Amino acid sequence: MMVKPKKVMVVGSGGREHALALALLRSESVGEVLVNPGNAGIRSPADAAKKLRPVSGDALAVAKSERVDLVVVGPEVALCNGLVDELAGAGILAFGPTRRAARLEASKAFMKEFAARHGIPTGRFEVVRDAGDAERAIKTFESPPVVKADGLCAGKGVVVSASHEEAVLVARRMLSGEPFGDAGRTVVIEERLVGSEASVHGICDGERFFLLPTAQDHKRIGDGDSGPNTGGMGTYAPAPLITPSLAARIEREIFERALLGMASEDSPFRGVLFAGIMVTPEGEPNLLEFNVRFGDPETQVITLVVEGDFAETLASAARGELDPTAMHVSMDHAVCVVLAAHGYPASPRVGDAISGLTEAEAVDGATVFHAGTAEKSGRIVTAGGRVLGVAARGASLAEAHERAYRAADCIQFDGKQLRRDIAARALGSIRP
Ligand code: AMP
Ligand code: GLY
Repeated sequence: MMVKPKKVMVVGSGGREHALALALLRSESVGEVLVNPGNAGIRSPADAAKKLRPVSGDALAVAKSERVDLVVVGPEVALCNGLVDELAGAGILAFGPTRRAARLEASKAFMKEFAARHGIPTGRFEVVRDAGDAERAIKTFESPPVVKADGLCAGKGVVVSASHEEAVLVARRMLSGEPFGDAGRTVVIEERLVGSEASVHGICDGERFFLLPTAQDHKRIGDGDSGPNTGGMGTYAPAPLITPSLAARIEREIFERALLGMASEDSPFRGVLFAGIMVTPEGEPNLLEFNVRFGDPETQVITLVVEGDFAETLASAARGELDPTAMHVSMDHAVCVVLAAHGYPASPRVGDAISGLTEAEAVDGATVFHAGTAEKSGRIVTAGGRVLGVAARGASLAEAHERAYRAADCIQFDGKQLRRDIAARALGSIRP
């Protein structure tokens, strides 16, 4: 039996990392969680004997000097740049995929070709590298296709075009290198799928996996899915869209095939695999994307409805010997409402003073996750686009929803933006 982790470092600074840190602190063996670089909310909870503290500096150097037992890497950029390989090379246990395995997110062309090689259901696609091929490929799709830059573009590299002509223009621009540099010099032209989306996360050890509760995100800034795309304005878990029989198909057709496929291609996948899935009106699950990291703000709700030893689950996965019984999924529900800054997503304003955090935390079942916050002259101020994730757990989705909005309404800052319809569709489906 390996020794369970006592000191853990989370790499990242968002709401996802705050949620991961709090979930890790709940593990019995864990005495301290460092978050590198963290944010203004990363501080020890008032009533906890355990420590939560921000640290800064090169992740490998800090992991060594602080002698941490486990590193959990949040953002995709660090994973795709090979941070886990670096840490593992120095003998430090790290949860996350190697650079080679992270290609599932780093390259959309790799991901689509991988899915095709291993029979994972996904929309028809073509990979193109010049404008002529793009135009020819686009014409072969009956409906205007989706145009995707191959590489990482901080969520801005996907365009669902309204016409074939627009798709051609978008592909030409991406291929020119102007908007995304090399990340756009290869483009995936993909069949547009219709239906409802869900986020399914599995903790993987290279062979085995443990499916976390399913979640649904709300990507547009405005109510009723209006306005521009964002990193995600709110989530709820579990997602009733993913019925038990659909979950079983997703396990078999997506997760099992992905893990077998990656192992057979010399890049066993260890870490969290996050499948973005479109469920068509016929009830068919289709893979839209793989992410090789936890979703944000999916993590804020997922970690509220899992119980058990989170730290040991991640550590055992990182060692390649996942203990799927260390954790279980509760029967509860969770809702997270994102509070975004004035001007988000185009140009978020920073420096607005935030009030009401203590009142929000006092709401039954509520947790306030910090993302774009900073401390300035003793006050917490806005410091990024998505400022806070106000989440709550409840015995029913309706209870979690009521608590999350009650807490979100306690918090004020100038220009605060939030959606009023997080989980509304799911609530409608369970209310007559
Ligand atoms: P991705 O980063 O590939 O998940 O794309 C971001 C968003 O674009 C997804 O969450 C979907 O809302 C949308 N999208 C991506 N691919 C497709 C597709 N093939 N059909 C329809 N919508 C898509
Ligand atoms: N919320 C979507 C993502 O993390 O990619």
